[in-house]
Amino acid sequence: MKAARYYGRKDIRIEDIEPQPLEAGTVRIDVAWTGICGTDLHEYLEGPIFVPEHGHPHPISGEDAPVTLGHEFSGVISEVGEGVTDLAVGDHVVVEPYIIRDDVNTGPDSNDYHLSPDMNFIGLGGRGGGLAENIVVQRRWVHKIDASVALDEAALIEPLSVAYHAVQRSGVVAGQTALVGGAGPIGLLTAAVLRALGVTVIVSELSPLRRQKALDSGVADVALNPAEVDVVAEVKKLTDGKGAHVAFEATSVQVVFDTLMDAVRPTGVIVVISIWGKPATFDMHKLVMKEIDVRGTIGYVNSHPATIALVESGKIDLKPFITGRIGLEGLVDEGFDTLINRNETAVKILVSPTGKGL
Ligand SMILES: NC(=O)c1ccc[n+]([C@@H]2O[C@H](COP(=O)([O-])OP(=O)(O)OC[C@H]3O[C@@H](n4cnc5c(N)ncnc54)[C@H](O)[C@@H]3O)[C@@H](O)[C@H]2O)c1
Ligand SMILES: [Zn+2]
Repeated sequence: MKAARYYGRKDIRIEDIEPQPLEAGTVRIDVAWTGICGTDLHEYLEGPIFVPEHGHPHPISGEDAPVTLGHEFSGVISEVGEGVTDLAVGDHVVVEPYIIRDDVNTGPDSNDYHLSPDMNFIGLGGRGGGLAENIVVQRRWVHKIDASVALDEAALIEPLSVAYHAVQRSGVVAGQTALVGGAGPIGLLTAAVLRALGVTVIVSELSPLRRQKALDSGVADVALNPAEVDVVAEVKKLTDGKGAHVAFEATSVQVVFDTLMDAVRPTGVIVVISIWGKPATFDMHKLVMKEIDVRGTIGYVNSHPATIALVESGKIDLKPFITGRIGLEGLVDEGFDTLINRNETAVKILVSPTGKGL
């Protein structure tokens, strides 16, 4: 089958590889759609980061580069391994793409399996990936979705789960106001979860297309251009002079973080979602004097069922965020190139590894 394989920085090859063997406790998924993620771009430009370098196998997967890429995907079950009784051929599914040690409790009562030692992701750390015609995944990480959810939209459930967990981390409740710094895929999906919960959403974003997307999709009440307006003053105006209850950092840009520090009210919470390649600074005095909480968030933990319910119930519509569709052969020249050099013109680009969806 065809697969996109990561060999090293700036070296991704579309190759013919052997499909993974079906084992007990696993299912085979024929991949429908796979999203290109900022993390894939980081691996391409600056990696390997999550991908285990050639000669240094990952301690859990036992694999090293080359590995198949793709961790945001949807598909249809084509084979069911021995012992899997609650999934069937033909089921529509998405994957929570974790690689986690077998002795970690990943049950419904766990709230920290995503923080366990050597955690990595399917599609980065080994175990196949969504940028292939099919993938074999352990039952634990497969989530069934209703057939009424379009499979292209379902490919966005993984980043939506990132957003869902980030919103959970903030403790925000309905009726409050949130500021989201950055309206890339992650900022927009965070806004979508906030709106679905009844939170008033202000986004700050430089790209006109992305600001427009935030408004047209209905996920933001207000979209500010930080190059033109004083974001802190605007947020204060919209909140009776008090500031936002919570803020989300989804840019990894220092000035955005500084703005959020000023734009939250006393006792405000700032959730940092973006991945920072270098240390950042912040004004400790402001943090102390306003009793601000700054919180990190990574991935998701038992977040997929609630996230899927938001999509199945129609409370979140993911269609507006899909701005491009390509085949596997166009992955680097079309997909990566657009997101690296013209990212303000796109939001989520989906890949159809079999070409059937195009
Ligand atoms: N914590 C996690 O689990 C997790 C999961 C997935 C992605 N991420 C990270 O989240 C971050 C966002 O991802 P993305 O795919 O949305 O990235 P992106 O680069 O597409 O979006 C960032 C947005 O920030 C905007 N921006 C830049 N400077 C700005 C400024 N001064 N003011 C306002 N907006 C500004 C850009 O125009 C862009 O639209 C990345 O760092 C990514 O690695 C984290
Ligand atoms: Zn991702």
